[in-house]
Amino acid sequence: MRDRHIKEIVREEYRHAALQAASGASSCCSSSCCGTGQSRRDHDPITSNHYAAEERADLPAEAIAASLGCGNPTALARLNPGETVLDLGSGGGIDVLLSARRVGPTGKVYGLDMTDEMLDLARENQRKAGLTNVEFLKGDIEQIPLSDNSVDVIISN
Ligand SMILES: C[S@@+](CC[C@H](N)C(=O)[O-])C[C@H]1O[C@@H](n2cnc3c(N)ncnc32)[C@H](O)[C@@H]1O
Repeated sequence: MRDRHIKEIVREEYRHAALQAASGASSCCSSSCCGTGQSRRDHDPITSNHYAAEERADLPAEAIAASLGCGNPTALARLNPGETVLDLGSGGGIDVLLSARRVGPTGKVYGLDMTDEMLDLARENQRKAGLTNVEFLKGDIEQIPLSDNSVDVIISN
């Protein structure tokens, strides 16, 4: 009961963040789970300014605006063409889209999220990015709607 209540509060927070990003407002440093007022140093995949200019160049502005993560898992993960990747709590889809380019057309990337508005935003970002090797799934991280051993790499941000 208490867990369900907490989850609803979390979902409501991300519902607002998704709507804000979809409207074009930047989410930078406001709703991130990393806290507020973090300094933005030059490209560092762990601490700040997570995405390199060449990665951002290929992404829809709304995917960047919706980025709420604490790092850049795609900079740290070893992703190979043809692999299947699962992003837990995929939000607006930034890491899914970057991973999809890395695994290429023979690979596949799933984004899993529990918030409808984030899924809408992510699917719109996928459409804008023109990527077909991507699928966004609605569900809970605690109960992943995929069969066992069906992915090669799991990322989360
Ligand atoms: C901090 S945001 C990060 C979004 C994205 N990974 C990024 O880096 O921008 C967390 C996301 O996880 C989702 N989420 C949180 N708890 C979840 C759960 N238990 N199951 C599925 N999704 C969840 C939220 O809806 C939200 O979109």
